[in-house]
Amino acid sequence: MKNSSKNPTVKYRKDYRPSQYLIKHTDLKFQLFDSHTLVNSELKIEKNPLDKSDVLEPLVLDGLELELQQVSVDGNELSKDEYEATDNHLTINNVSEKFTLNLQVKIYPQKNKSLEGLYTSGGKFCTQCEAEGFRKITYYLDRPEIMSEFKVRIEGDKAAYPLLLSNGNPLTRGDMSDGRHFVEWHDPFPKPSYLFALVAGDLDCLTDSFTTMSGREVKLELYVDKGKLDQCRFAMDSLIESMRWDEEKFGREYDLDLYMIVAVSDFNMGAMENKGLNVFNTKYVLANKKTATDADFEGVERVIAHEYFHNWTGNRVTCRDWFQLSLKEGLTVFRDQKFSEDMQSKAVQRIDQVKIIRSSQFAEDSGPMAHSIRPDSYIEMNNFYTVTVYNKGAEVIRMMHTLLGEQGFRAGMDLYFERHDGQAVTCEDFICAMEDANQKDWALFRNWYRQAGTPEVKVQLESLGNGKFELQFAQSCPATPGQETKKPFMIPVKIGFINAQGDVAKFRLSDSDDVCGETLFVMTEENQTLTIHSDNEVLIPSLLRDFSAPVKLKFEYDQSQLATLFASDPNSFNRWDAGQSLMTKILLNNEDEISEPDLEILKNSFAQLLGDEQLDNSLKALAVILPEISSLIGRSEKINVDRLFNKHRQLKKHIGQSLEHTWFSIYNTTSGDQPSDRKLRNVALDYMMVANDEQHFELAATQQTRADNMTDELSALQTIANSTEGYKSDYINQFYQKWKDEELVMDKWFSAQVINDDESIIEHVNALLNHEKFSIENPNKVRAVITAFISGNLPQFHNATGAGYELLADTIIRLNAINPQIAAGLSKQFNQWKKLDGKRQALIKEQLERIKAVDNLSNDVYEVVEKSLN
Ligand code: PHE
Ligand code: ZN
Repeated sequence: MKNSSKNPTVKYRKDYRPSQYLIKHTDLKFQLFDSHTLVNSELKIEKNPLDKSDVLEPLVLDGLELELQQVSVDGNELSKDEYEATDNHLTINNVSEKFTLNLQVKIYPQKNKSLEGLYTSGGKFCTQCEAEGFRKITYYLDRPEIMSEFKVRIEGDKAAYPLLLSNGNPLTRGDMSDGRHFVEWHDPFPKPSYLFALVAGDLDCLTDSFTTMSGREVKLELYVDKGKLDQCRFAMDSLIESMRWDEEKFGREYDLDLYMIVAVSDFNMGAMENKGLNVFNTKYVLANKKTATDADFEGVERVIAHEYFHNWTGNRVTCRDWFQLSLKEGLTVFRDQKFSEDMQSKAVQRIDQVKIIRSSQFAEDSGPMAHSIRPDSYIEMNNFYTVTVYNKGAEVIRMMHTLLGEQGFRAGMDLYFERHDGQAVTCEDFICAMEDANQKDWALFRNWYRQAGTPEVKVQLESLGNGKFELQFAQSCPATPGQETKKPFMIPVKIGFINAQGDVAKFRLSDSDDVCGETLFVMTEENQTLTIHSDNEVLIPSLLRDFSAPVKLKFEYDQSQLATLFASDPNSFNRWDAGQSLMTKILLNNEDEISEPDLEILKNSFAQLLGDEQLDNSLKALAVILPEISSLIGRSEKINVDRLFNKHRQLKKHIGQSLEHTWFSIYNTTSGDQPSDRKLRNVALDYMMVANDEQHFELAATQQTRADNMTDELSALQTIANSTEGYKSDYINQFYQKWKDEELVMDKWFSAQVINDDESIIEHVNALLNHEKFSIENPNKVRAVITAFISGNLPQFHNATGAGYELLADTIIRLNAINPQIAAGLSKQFNQWKKLDGKRQALIKEQLERIKAVDNLSNDVYEVVEKSLN
């Protein structure tokens, strides 16, 4: 276990110092064996020319869980008193301004279950080095600003590992004695260690090619486990689309002659952008209609694009230090979002993006781990691959795009690449490029990088008579750990109006003669007023259109105003949002039950919307899905969960029952074969089952049995598993028999079974943890059972007995010893505990303390639990 003391070191952004040494060339040799691997490295090290001090400090390299075999400097082997190797470092005391360091270390990839560094998955070797995993491969200056030209030689058994892959271009290959062979690779682009990759195995390959805009041909290779080639085409097509899109939208061309993607089953995250050799979680590669849902296809397309886009935003221009992570991640998420908006429906994409912000990011921002998109400190960097850095980071980039417009944003991007290609830079460098390309001064905008917490914008509308109206804005931001008071943010608020009849209400700003239907108001102070003129007597404001800023907007709408917006806001996003606000208001008010009139308003609004022939089926489906419980908790300071769960059940049942005929007719008449048609039909099926699961059971069962695609098959299974029959239904077993050999489909099978409101579910979840297809060492399986349960079944996770909490804590403790990164991720699921009632707080606290007391607690888990308890 790394640094298992209970007061691990905290790293601060303000302490950043450039490295005194650089590594210009890195030559690696890997000898892969059944029990261990030998890694030889030759590092050409020299003093950083930017370092002006006369004193040469000792060279301190990072290293973890390595067995050092040999050290030599300029060809002379060092004796034991000339260097010092500790748990975390190798220190060499007397070095010169320029020298060659040779090392040999021994490592044990077959025993590495952390899935960080070099490890094995399904009989092949692969690597994961971001953020600080390269130090588990050899001693190195393992920080992103050390960019080095890599040469790699891999040696291994030829029969077991016919493929030996690394970054860049293959140089030579050949046979050796004892049935072994080797391949040598060279990557001409200097890169940080976190982008290094190696793969060795026996895999199938789908090949294709792409001709870049300057006419160069790039070979594309997609490697998967044997027998999976029929699940690769979609990922390859997505790659080709991404390459074309980045050329068209940003003028960015791919730079190497070869682009490889390898899919592995055991992976902590979604995928990794290693230069020229992406390593992917199989979940984001393998997909065909039979095995993957429509949502899976979207996920593949998005993640393939995301990793490809990193080649420019991440690899060509990388991060100076890990505090700058959002420089590459926020920007690349924004780019993949734009890509998905172009490939799919823009409004639907936007709704999905905002759901993530509201259900996870707002919660993070209001909990003990709250941090700004550019954090000030961390214990374990792996804990900061968060929705804040990624998704709020993307929202911050999106605001720049909104403020500058398409062209201004593009000009900023061009300048950013022109200035920083080949460099390791900071978020500040990015902002400066945007400012300089557009002659802006964004001093205030920088607060988005400095301050954590979700700003609240309160808006009031006052009619002054004679067609004159005032919109009054007030912003504030709650305190977060370490940040008691906040400065104002720059907040772009996109605004339109409709009148009482639901028609667009045109208006004029008081400083202009132009009549318009929409405006962008940019807040820069705590309190501001916008004066407008309109011929309409009554205005209903449609605020923060398209979620133009990651804030909580508060406006005291009454129910009928929301219903009018829900029926007729021309902005699709806000139309959806009005429905969400309407339901949220009802679900979170102080009543123990939802009143009859409120139920009636919702029913009528839904009925009207479902009958709107202009509206796209996926927007209909999204509009009638209740707000997620997690986002209702995420937006609250204190929450009575028992009341919330009951009202949520009551509302779902009511919508199911009171519109039963409508659902039935939608189910039977929505005949299209598009994802949007399937989505609406399956939402209808689900509501029918909620209304009366006995009566509609056959329908669901038939759909599961007859489906020719996984979307319909799985939706049917889910709604059956969710019903009174639940996990005891025969259809669970039928699905199992059909799919037991498809790992990714088994993940869905597991997840479907944990969503049921019956108390016995926890016992069943425990049983699933002992199922032969479950493995605690496989993160996808842990996510399929545990994460699916605790985030998808909140009523039972928060079961008043505390059994859900105990289950989570047990899993965290087990995983702490195997895969600390996944264990820490799960620990974050306790972070909302201070919002709950006293009884539940006590139960969770007990579990947090139990975790904290574990021997050999990893830094990863320690950081999360400690912050949560404080
Ligand atoms: N950099 C990866 C991405 O965003 C995510 C990742 C981080 C993967 C750390 C593995 C480990 O695409
Ligand atoms: Zn990324």
